[in-house]
Amino acid sequence: MIYLDNAATSFPKPESVYLAMDHFARTSLANPGRSGHRMALASERVLDDTRHLLNTLFKGESTDRWIFTLNCTDALNIAIKGLVNDGDHVITSDLEHNSVSRPLQALAKAGRIRLTRVASHEGYLNADEVIAAITPETRLVALTHAANVLGTIQPIEPIAQAVRAAGGFMLLDAAQTAGIVDINLSKMPIDMLAFPGHKALYGPTGTGALYVGPRVNLRPWREGGTGGDSSTVTHPEIMPYKLEGGTPNVLGLAGLKAGLEWVIERGVEVSRLHEVALLQKVVDWVAEHSDHWAIGGAWDPTRHVGALSLKPPEGIAPSELGAILDTSFAVAIRPGLHCAPYIHKRLGTFPDGMLRISPGPFNTPEHIDTFLNALAEITDGLI
Ligand SMILES: Cc1ncc(COP(=O)(O)O)c(C=O)c1O
Repeated sequence: MIYLDNAATSFPKPESVYLAMDHFARTSLANPGRSGHRMALASERVLDDTRHLLNTLFKGESTDRWIFTLNCTDALNIAIKGLVNDGDHVITSDLEHNSVSRPLQALAKAGRIRLTRVASHEGYLNADEVIAAITPETRLVALTHAANVLGTIQPIEPIAQAVRAAGGFMLLDAAQTAGIVDINLSKMPIDMLAFPGHKALYGPTGTGALYVGPRVNLRPWREGGTGGDSSTVTHPEIMPYKLEGGTPNVLGLAGLKAGLEWVIERGVEVSRLHEVALLQKVVDWVAEHSDHWAIGGAWDPTRHVGALSLKPPEGIAPSELGAILDTSFAVAIRPGLHCAPYIHKRLGTFPDGMLRISPGPFNTPEHIDTFLNALAEITDGLI
């Protein structure tokens, strides 16, 4: 299989991730922090080391500001629902994944918040337009760092500075950038950073993280055992345990730890440049076939991650193309709306969507050639 669906989840993982999980599962898969024996301590150490690596990579305030989550959706929901109060104003954009749009839309529909959705232009937000939407009631600005449909990296820094100056909180959805784009929390005033462990940090599914900056005090929705102090009648207030309850996915986190080590050793920008170079081949092919094909959004390789969507020729459904690529050519891509309906409406590709290609660090130029030759073969005769 030629896997070009890394924006959904990365595959394959670096070999060290498989080895780390196998070793951990066979030697140390005890309940972290609960029992005090050496296996429990080894398990706890994986959590500590992983928090340390996250803090090193993203330059957060301290390791205890990092909480582990099930995925990015979980992290975003903990952040949004733990922060906003009735009557707040919240700003978001039309580029967002449903894991941001839906919780906010539900709060707005229930009459609990006032929601402003700022429109993008060819896949990019205009920072001034977002900043102009900030009011004294704006408590939260929740934006994606890179659009998952289009791969376009957003101008977050000036927005985050304006949000901070206005006394609001900035939540950044880094699902498509963590591990691919440099994010320096010591320089950027981002209050909460959410991402999955299973995309460009190369952990397994079932992993994710939320950074909760020192200005933020989130209400937890999950209370229970933390493995530490069992004597108090209510959930501990101390971070990170305040926002973590129950046995964590420590096996998955053993994999994430190895993935983080791999990313730190390889360097973040290396992967982005590799993926963008592969996508450049696709962009060039589309330019040669522009009578029938187009890309979604603008192409600026300096502000792009490794995801790109194609508008197929008139009358050919992206879902059909996706199925033929899979069954006849063993190529995995993602057709459809990519959990982001607002941007497809904006681009006029709703409801059929587009064809998204997202290479990863192990893809080669030959993989892209196979994909493009397959597209030409499928559509030859139909157009
Ligand atoms: C921009 C963005 N945000 C959030 C998510 C949700 O991530 P998860 O599937 O880990 O919950 C995704 C997943 O594709 C995404 O691309």
